Amino acid sequence: PRILILCGGLSHERDVSLNSGHRVAGFLEESGTWDVDIRDVDSTLINSLNDSTYRPDLVWPLLHGSYGEDGSIRDVLEMLGLPYIGSRAKASMLAWNKPIAKNIVRKIGGLHTPHSVTLPEAMFRELGVQPIINTVVGSLGMPVIVKPTMGGSALGCTVVRDSSQLPQALVDCFAYGSTALIERFVEGTEVSVSILDTGDEVIALPPMEINTPSSTYDYSERYTPGATEFIIPARLDDDVLVAVKDNALTAYQVLGMRDIARMDFIVDTHGTAQFLEANVTPGMTDVSILPRQAVAAGYDLTELYSRIAQSVLS
Ligand code: DAL
Ligand code: MG
Repeated sequence: PRILILCGGLSHERDVSLNSGHRVAGFLEESGTWDVDIRDVDSTLINSLNDSTYRPDLVWPLLHGSYGEDGSIRDVLEMLGLPYIGSRAKASMLAWNKPIAKNIVRKIGGLHTPHSVTLPEAMFRELGVQPIINTVVGSLGMPVIVKPTMGGSALGCTVVRDSSQLPQALVDCFAYGSTALIERFVEGTEVSVSILDTGDEVIALPPMEINTPSSTYDYSERYTPGATEFIIPARLDDDVLVAVKDNALTAYQVLGMRDIARMDFIVDTHGTAQFLEANVTPGMTDVSILPRQAVAAGYDLTELYSRIAQSVLS
């Protein structure tokens, strides 16, 4: 069968996506099962997919960030009747929006998630610096973490330990999106759990602990080999490891996700997993979490990626 990998695109995570796309393409080619096409996405995509002389059997959208994870390209694939790997467009749209995802996993899934408020840039401009500081300190205290409500790879994210740093953190955040999520910063162990549908069952890979100097696992710590310490399985009690996996599977279900996803948590000092976010298109570069977890769990990536694709096709 012919598989088309979509990567690159015009989001802030373009480079990461090119890397993910080429890695996955390499593994699928190695399997010998797939004719692999790879495409850096721009506006010409729609015409070329609508061309009756070119029709892949399956599409793997490996676009990170906007268009890729917000559901818009997936909507186009659905309109064209092209089967693809990963969550449906509507589920992606909900999971990609951090405050919406937090609400769904809390209210429907019963998970814990750090208290937060959202702040549109226009309101920041209108109310001014001091009233915003007062409101945030009054409702969340310090420290907090400021993030774009929609975004990836920690771009635009800052941990604010002193309220005087909040305005600068907001300005930096608004460079990546028009609304900020301001979340209580929870001290603890950052853990990530990838979820895969292998065709036979939906599995949670072993929780991975992410240890970084900056406590945001920032862009350079993600993509500079050796800059982050990954510990697998995470150094947590067995019952906590089981609970984190269960929580990740619950989040996947209540968000209506499909085939592949990654859930990020902080396990607080009481051992409670606090949901941070769902990733619609988890990174698949050679330094990304999902492939490391899969290898640690004993999977061969060539076989695994081919199996995921096969199961969507059949
Ligand atoms: N947003 C990046 C690609 C990740 O979650 O791995
Ligand atoms: Mg993310």
